[in-house]
Amino acid sequence: MRTMPGGQTATAETDFDALAATALTRCDTVAECTDEPGRITRTFLSPAMERCNRVVQEWMQAAGMVVNVDRAGNLRGYYSASSEAAPRLIIGSHLDTVPNAGRYDGVLGVMLGIGLVEALAGRRLCFGIEVIGFSDEEGVRYGLPFIGSRAVTSTLLAPHLARRDAAGVAMYAALDRFQAAHPDAIDPELDARARAYLEFHIEQGPILEHAGLALGVVETIAGQSRATITFQGKSGHAGTTPMFLRRDALAAAAEWLTAVESAASRMPGLVATTGRISCEPDAANVIPGLVRCSLDVRHADDVIRRAAVEDFLCRAEAIGVRREIEVEHVLEFEQAAVGLDLALVKLADRAVSDIGISPRHMTSGAGHDAMIMAAHVPSVMIFLRSPGGISHHPDEAVYAGDIAAALRAGMSFLEGFEAHLEQFSESERKSCTI
Ligand code: GLV
Ligand code: MN
Ligand code: MN
Repeated sequence: MRTMPGGQTATAETDFDALAATALTRCDTVAECTDEPGRITRTFLSPAMERCNRVVQEWMQAAGMVVNVDRAGNLRGYYSASSEAAPRLIIGSHLDTVPNAGRYDGVLGVMLGIGLVEALAGRRLCFGIEVIGFSDEEGVRYGLPFIGSRAVTSTLLAPHLARRDAAGVAMYAALDRFQAAHPDAIDPELDARARAYLEFHIEQGPILEHAGLALGVVETIAGQSRATITFQGKSGHAGTTPMFLRRDALAAAAEWLTAVESAASRMPGLVATTGRISCEPDAANVIPGLVRCSLDVRHADDVIRRAAVEDFLCRAEAIGVRREIEVEHVLEFEQAAVGLDLALVKLADRAVSDIGISPRHMTSGAGHDAMIMAAHVPSVMIFLRSPGGISHHPDEAVYAGDIAAALRAGMSFLEGFEAHLEQFSESERKSCTI
């Protein structure tokens, strides 16, 4: 027997392997909620997201949570504490996906939150647990990530709401439609009793696997810049226009892409990606006249990241001048690197060591809802090893044993969180004594 939060005890019999197997099966079920049959794609406020919220809601309710959807489409399950005024721990991650995704990015973090509540088996703690399934982290529909956590932290602003999706639907219109369909949706704002945010997530990279570790503790999340670069040349006949008279927008973009690739490769820790490219008029026998490229640049040091973006944009200009191509860019968004809360990192270290894993501190190259939450509530993340380091790909995987380890570490985190809360107010301390 082990002392648990609220002075209660957890039986040593909690079957973490069974809970891990359930989490895996649930990720499979959620994967069936897709906007594109045959592959997993679930975007902000889409019909697949509606279906996903319905199934996840049932699991939350069965685990003893009161469930609401908020006006930004976030799914919120609350497992109440031993007292109404008690502080809250938020456990969350996102339920949306990239196109043709794997089944664990984001989803697993939500399933682990539910699994931890199930592991409590009805016991009430001195703090409440709110499990949030964020409606958008990937930013696929509006080219703006973290819509769910921005709404929760009241940082979803007018320029964001004016963005349009590929079908021309403004975000505010999509939200209006969602709210009309969900008249009972609650205010997304973070509850004033929230004291910490914990996010479990697959690592999405190879470091833990290489180190032979099931879990790692994230202390920093790399900053990101995203931009759209437009190369405007002149389209023309592919058979009649001699090479020296062309202003080929795609050839200019290709030269720029390889220049960015080699420049980024020379800077340790820097990653730069063009993941989306469109070409007009997009015909085999027409010289490309207009090309739009996305640019995603990340580094743990914001100064290095900003300098790199500046350098990449200058390179595009220089290529444009030489090739007589007009180059324009729009900076879509910038997110500074985030340091997670030191006290919670220590708590997570202890939770991980409690189950016999040596705590490894990591920088996340991927963006996470914790990036947004961290500015509003002390936040921490625990990573689970990613077999093959694969993510944003249907081959994404996770070991059942690592999920069980995450659940065991999570229970230990809940235990440590009670002591951690003692630094808060007297009334909160009282509510911990039942
Ligand atoms: C989110 O998955 C990201 O792009 O980092
Ligand atoms: Mn992702
Ligand atoms: Mn994710």
